[in-house]
Amino acid sequence: MITLSINGTPIQASEGMTVLEAARQEGIEIPTLCYLKALGPFGVCRLCIVEANGPGLIHAILPSCNLKVFEGLVITTDSAVIHEIRRTMIELLLASTPLSESLRWLAIKFGVEASRFTPDKKDPCILCGLCVRVCRDRIGASALSFAGSDSNRHVVAEEIRIDKEACIGCGTCANICPVQAIKLEDMESDRKIVLYGKVASRFELVKCDICGNPHTTQEFIDSVVSRLNEEQKKGVRNLCPECARHYYAEAMTGHFTADVRGNR
Ligand code: SF4
Ligand code: FES
Repeated sequence: MITLSINGTPIQASEGMTVLEAARQEGIEIPTLCYLKALGPFGVCRLCIVEANGPGLIHAILPSCNLKVFEGLVITTDSAVIHEIRRTMIELLLASTPLSESLRWLAIKFGVEASRFTPDKKDPCILCGLCVRVCRDRIGASALSFAGSDSNRHVVAEEIRIDKEACIGCGTCANICPVQAIKLEDMESDRKIVLYGKVASRFELVKCDICGNPHTTQEFIDSVVSRLNEEQKKGVRNLCPECARHYYAEAMTGHFTADVRGNR
């Protein structure tokens, strides 16, 4: 175990943990926008900055989401300097994305009433990379990428692009985007993935086998099924979330014995 200090309190953390994880383990709140535990750190929004002192560090301002704990590290999460930098970061982000609920909530929390800055681009994307990473690392489709990116994406990334051929229309990118730069628009059996206000891909929704409501794309079902073994494939049902909840609850309690297609 590693001993560090956060806001004057000695903390024990496991080797390999980040300062953000160690702080959250102790119930110490640090705001984040581009971090999700399931996807790991990315280090672009800078909202999670802390002041770090200790061996090799003097008053260093660093993102806690990718700063690993080490012996003797002294962290301050809420000094006046940190507060001021965080407020400025929120203002900068708000300038390009004034309608984002996540950002407005953070602005209220940190006492930011308005942004002093003028946006330098028209779309609301803050290039947090959550959509790119979830599509690549969790969904396995890799349909989204940074346009203009190369080995040094932080310098050259300008916007997000979508590869229509690779997109399976699952909508996870829209659900994860903190500023609604990607939206999912479902109208009866028609699904649109809208990126920066333009339709980026379009799908026909398939109907739930029980209630008949259109709920997902065939491409998404095929993608999930392709990762299952033969035994697992036998248990696959095309069900909307609501019917799936009833179906599996009934199956688990033994009240359900037959294929339910159309019989509910
Ligand atoms: S589209 Fe949304 S999730 Fe993707 S990088 Fe931009 S802000 Fe982040
Ligand atoms: S959460 Fe750490 S930089 Fe965004």
